Amino acid sequence: MVNTISFFLNGEPVTLEKPSPDLLLIDYLRSPEVGLTGAKKGCGQGGCGACTVLLSTWDAGAARFAHRSINSCLRPVCALDGTAVTTIEGTGQVSRPAPAHLTHQAAFSRAAAPPTYVPPAEVTAARAAGRARSQARTVAAAALGTSAGHSGGPAAGAEQETGMNPVAYRLAMNNGSQCGYCTTGFVMTM
Ligand code: FES
Repeated sequence: MVNTISFFLNGEPVTLEKPSPDLLLIDYLRSPEVGLTGAKKGCGQGGCGACTVLLSTWDAGAARFAHRSINSCLRPVCALDGTAVTTIEGTGQVSRPAPAHLTHQAAFSRAAAPPTYVPPAEVTAARAAGRARSQARTVAAAALGTSAGHSGGPAAGAEQETGMNPVAYRLAMNNGSQCGYCTTGFVMTM
């Protein structure tokens, strides 16, 4: 009787000895031993999608991999043998570009600041520093022939500049999230 489960996790081979039959993939990923906390456990019952990861299986008939997004909160680890799992961490690295439009402004909140509001000096200084970084990055992007701007979305090749996967990058650059808790699920589904 086979007591091991083997699969790929973000491209790395994993073999588990006698995994518990009720160990779910989301709990395995977020465990301290694994530490992949990009997938979130929201509802824990397949309703919200915050736990979405990519599951790849080999389709022998078509001689290619079949990729599906799955709810990791519903998938027992014991059902992963021979598959490949990709989490949001496996799709790219972030090197925080700090573009101007991602800098939080008081006016972005539902209870916007009154017109007479004067931000604290620390906030003003932080915004000036952020603007300077953003300008430096825009100049660097222009030198590379890419766009760091917001309007119209990023130019092709800008993803490589930040290291993010293209879907996550465009979602971030176009303000496509609120609290962001479920955003990784959206990205993995797309
Ligand atoms: Fe909500 Fe998995 S945690 S669908």
